[in-house]
Amino acid sequence: MTSASREDDLAECVTTIRAMLTECGQEHLLAFADELTPDELKQLIEQVESIDVPNAVRLVEKARTTSIEPPPSDQIRPASFVSRVPDHAESIRAAGQALIDEGKVAAFTVAGGQGTRLGWNGPKGTFPATPLTGKPLFRVFAEQLAAHARRSGHSIPWYIMTSPINDADTRAFFRDNNWFGLDRTDVFMFPQGVLPSFDEEGRFLLASKSEIAVNPDGHGGALRALRASGAVEDMRARGIEQISYFQVDNPTVQVLDPLFIGLHATNPESSGEMSSKMVRKRDAGEKVGVFCVTDDRTCVIEYSDLPGELADAVDEQGELKFVAGSIAIHVLSVDFVDRVTSEGSGLAMPLHKASKKVPHVDLDSGQLIKPKTPNATKLEMFIFDAIPLADRSMVYETDRVEEFAPIKNAEGEDSADSSHQLQYQRATRWIEGAGGRIPRTEDGQPSCHVEITASTALDERDLAANTKLPKSFVAGQQYIL
Ligand code: UTP
Repeated sequence: MTSASREDDLAECVTTIRAMLTECGQEHLLAFADELTPDELKQLIEQVESIDVPNAVRLVEKARTTSIEPPPSDQIRPASFVSRVPDHAESIRAAGQALIDEGKVAAFTVAGGQGTRLGWNGPKGTFPATPLTGKPLFRVFAEQLAAHARRSGHSIPWYIMTSPINDADTRAFFRDNNWFGLDRTDVFMFPQGVLPSFDEEGRFLLASKSEIAVNPDGHGGALRALRASGAVEDMRARGIEQISYFQVDNPTVQVLDPLFIGLHATNPESSGEMSSKMVRKRDAGEKVGVFCVTDDRTCVIEYSDLPGELADAVDEQGELKFVAGSIAIHVLSVDFVDRVTSEGSGLAMPLHKASKKVPHVDLDSGQLIKPKTPNATKLEMFIFDAIPLADRSMVYETDRVEEFAPIKNAEGEDSADSSHQLQYQRATRWIEGAGGRIPRTEDGQPSCHVEITASTALDERDLAANTKLPKSFVAGQQYIL
């Protein structure tokens, strides 16, 4: 094609798109079209087409004019949960392990977030997370998967949801690290969808003269993305039945937990569609979503939406009634994902609004503005909103030291520091549970630091079975087991 005819084609496209954008009240997105090179213009046109502007405008208008109302207090009950060591734990664990051994379980990491609070220059999964060796989060999970593969005699497929913002960097990181020794055909990466960020009038913002400012559509976007990317089909082809879902920022998550998977598959409270792990809330004010029951359906109510009188309510023993804090660890069946995302199912995931600072091009001056205060709204879906779509949904208790040491902030709560402390505590617990002796300070704190690699042990039982475990440790020393 000659460059003249290419430019004619582009001009025609611009005319069509301008008409559509004008109808949608978004014609300003072409405000700088005349200044763009043909390549830049093409990029903008492709983005406009991929966003499906009329649909995005509908979603934005709905979000601007309605709010998601939590159910009235008298219709909210605390969700029941299966205790950490359930009756018949051994046979349940064996049932879960059998599913893993039969190649019916895949791991799934959602890693498409922007990681704004952490402020790390790169995808969050590349952040050095372990306290002594500084292993990046992706390596921590990969090592667990390799250990499971050795145990079950076959590799475990790993699905990773990225976003258009970090997909290329994430792929490069895996390539540079030789896929952490995993078979690269067992690592399936796919970007999630995005939604435009918008101002008070519902107008989409321009991140540059040739690009609309978008944000990933939330971890709840995982369901649609699993289908749209072909991951569901890939799972079917591999005989996968259950998906072990976890977030990228929790280095102590068990990427596959035989006991949890066994409960999900066999517990009468579970329809085998979507199950969740919880930890007991530290106190009434802790900012985590809480598992509740409303309309006979299990759901998570965000801390900001749980009425104060419920959040504070205690039982006769003085325990919080609404104690089950959500930690975003789930098992979902492939059938469930397939069912709720199939065409015509009308996947009903609410869109949550959040204010944020979005750098954008000023339409009058053409200058890039970096706002100091929030100037835009982003819309996101949350994975826990899928829980009520399951027929029955089970919640299983784990504990914070064992499995919840997230790295979300640069400092303070849920930072690398707090995560390291929890990782040390867990290693100490495992060693002492396995009969090892850890020296302690006068106030009872461990006085040596231990990091345990997944190839050494995946949990306390594993460590106890490890005959090479040193029995005593020396104060002031560091150990990498
Ligand atoms: P967070 O809610 O902590 O968000 O994500 P974030 O984007 O990582 O960090 P902030 O809020 O900007 O500081 C929890 C998990 O959900 C994933 C994240 O990658 C993380 O594993 N996530 C979040 C997605 O995969 N996509 C999203 O659109 C949002």
